Amino acid sequence: MLEITNLTVRFGGITALQDVGFTVAAGEMVGLIGPNGAGKTTLFNCMTRRNRLTSGTMRYLDTDLSTVRPDALAALGIARTFQNLGLFPRLSVRENILVGAHHRACAGFVSAGLRLPKVRREEKLLRAEADELLERLDLTAVADHPAAGLPFGTLKRIELARALAVRPQLLLLDEPVNGLSHGEVDEFAARLRGLQADLALTVIVVEHHMGFVMGTCDRVICLEFGQVIAEGEPEAVQQDPAVIRAYLGASA
Ligand SMILES: Nc1ncnc2c1ncn2[C@@H]1O[C@H](COP(=O)(O)OP(=O)(O)O)[C@@H](O)[C@H]1O
Ligand SMILES: [Mg+2]
Repeated sequence: MLEITNLTVRFGGITALQDVGFTVAAGEMVGLIGPNGAGKTTLFNCMTRRNRLTSGTMRYLDTDLSTVRPDALAALGIARTFQNLGLFPRLSVRENILVGAHHRACAGFVSAGLRLPKVRREEKLLRAEADELLERLDLTAVADHPAAGLPFGTLKRIELARALAVRPQLLLLDEPVNGLSHGEVDEFAARLRGLQADLALTVIVVEHHMGFVMGTCDRVICLEFGQVIAEGEPEAVQQDPAVIRAYLGASA
């Protein structure tokens, strides 16, 4: 589904990614780990066209991702969540989720303005789908509440629901369980596995939480200083001396 080759990203003098290459098959759940500053978010930003690549290629299905405009990603079936949440604080939870489905509202400006029957049908369908996601992610009770002021664990679920409203094939999650309690992490992991199976998702998940990564991912890729230093089954990567060194520093 995804083939990244020789991806290099530089910001002025900083090399955030250097010759990164890997593939992801449809249906896989791949963990992307590595210390802070390793380039994980930059990789997502590059794939979702927020950062420009310096060199290399990114192929998604039959598309060269480097030529895709950011606003065309949703239609290609790519959705992401953000490390620091990408929600609109003043919009309700339901409205935030509808933002994710925005690209599927195909009624034009004029027909929307006139509220033609086609527009109303479309709205109804998108709302019904949003309500299904709300239900699925235990958000029905807060559906009409503004995102601002809700507990952090709830915001993380809204963020996931917004990405799922895109109806993605490829889902990119940036530190989805960071800041959650133990119980919430387990719950999120179980939920994610259920969603992946039901919605036939391919997932790349950036996470530091080793328990989550080990229990959830089929395969793990470890980045350090913008380079892939290990890749393989979760247990093997966790025990890889280079990975242990990267996380614990030279003293290890
Ligand atoms: N827009 C940017 N401009 C300059 N440097 C950046 C930018 N984005 C990221 N970097 C740098 O690239 C490196 C990788 O950052 P990042 O991808 O956020 O790491 P991670 O997500 O693995 O913690 C860091 O050194 C960071 O400071
Ligand atoms: Mg990051």
